[in-house]
Amino acid sequence: MARQATPTYRAERIDTTSKWYDLFQKGVELGTWNVEKLFDEVGFEQDRETWAELDDDERKQIRFLLSGFLDGEFAVGEDASHHLQRIMDADCFDDNEEMAMYMTMFTLTEHKHTQFVDTYMHEVMGDQDMYAELNPNRGGARVPVVQATGLNEIFDRQGMLTARAAHSEDPVDIARALTVYHMTVEGLLARAGFYAINKLSVNADLPLLNHGFKFISTDEGRHITHGVEALTQLIEKEEAGKPEFQGVQQGILDELYETVPAVADFGYMFTDAVDDPLEIGYDDLILRVGNLIDGLYNETLGLDIAYRDVVGRVQDRYLECLEMDLDAEIEQYQEVYQKKRGVAADGGVGR
Ligand SMILES: [Fe+2]
Ligand SMILES: [Fe+2]
Repeated sequence: MARQATPTYRAERIDTTSKWYDLFQKGVELGTWNVEKLFDEVGFEQDRETWAELDDDERKQIRFLLSGFLDGEFAVGEDASHHLQRIMDADCFDDNEEMAMYMTMFTLTEHKHTQFVDTYMHEVMGDQDMYAELNPNRGGARVPVVQATGLNEIFDRQGMLTARAAHSEDPVDIARALTVYHMTVEGLLARAGFYAINKLSVNADLPLLNHGFKFISTDEGRHITHGVEALTQLIEKEEAGKPEFQGVQQGILDELYETVPAVADFGYMFTDAVDDPLEIGYDDLILRVGNLIDGLYNETLGLDIAYRDVVGRVQDRYLECLEMDLDAEIEQYQEVYQKKRGVAADGGVGR
């Protein structure tokens, strides 16, 4: 495992030469951007002005993209605090003490991402029948478009696998959970979203959105590094022949194949589903994701994945998305969401 070159201090119980100690310290130094300070410094004015000038279809495109982030950041924040914290403390990891330390930084940043996206949507975009204000933690629901495309399934699977791994502390369960969380959700979906925000910025001047997402993307870079390092350690132990680690690589590959179609759900919902007025370009996005898959799995983790099979799965799912009547699917949720909003509005006493 990569080690820090020259740690400044040594400790008794904590290994200050650990990669995770280094990530923890980096989180302390670099992960401290303050969301409210960013709002004060950059301000909402230009973003609100641009928002007011955008066409309805352009607004819908940005709403759909940020809806994926809103539900996604909520889901990762929740699973980090409930399950990842326990997973990193598992004794199958050599550096479990330092990993658990790093997780506190990790979880903090996920909640800041939620804070940024949620406040931005409210302050700049208004709720506009997106039902984005319905918090799943308070009896609400995910945003309708997230349910309608099927993107919700990836967050459901992430919740299920991280819960199982936290409970069993089994290395193969852990490998599966980390693959969904760090490789698919952070490594592919979130990075596809960052790409889209960069791309649409050419046609929509949204400085606050860009500033916020630069910080979010830097944080996510550390999260992915952590995930890759943790998976690398599990793979090394499997290759060293340790019995309880057998099945780690197969678990990683199974989860890659199982979850990679979510890239099509997400990519489709903020590009071709809304006719892509801000010119993000689904094909360019998929090309970018293809490179990320190759980089993460083949180069970084040293696995030999059947690249064309993987990309083929994304393409199959995309063709299914094209057949879907997304507006009709979203409408199916409207009645349920109206009821939930009615309940939420009167605090649940009017049922
Ligand atoms: Fe995040
Ligand atoms: Fe993250």
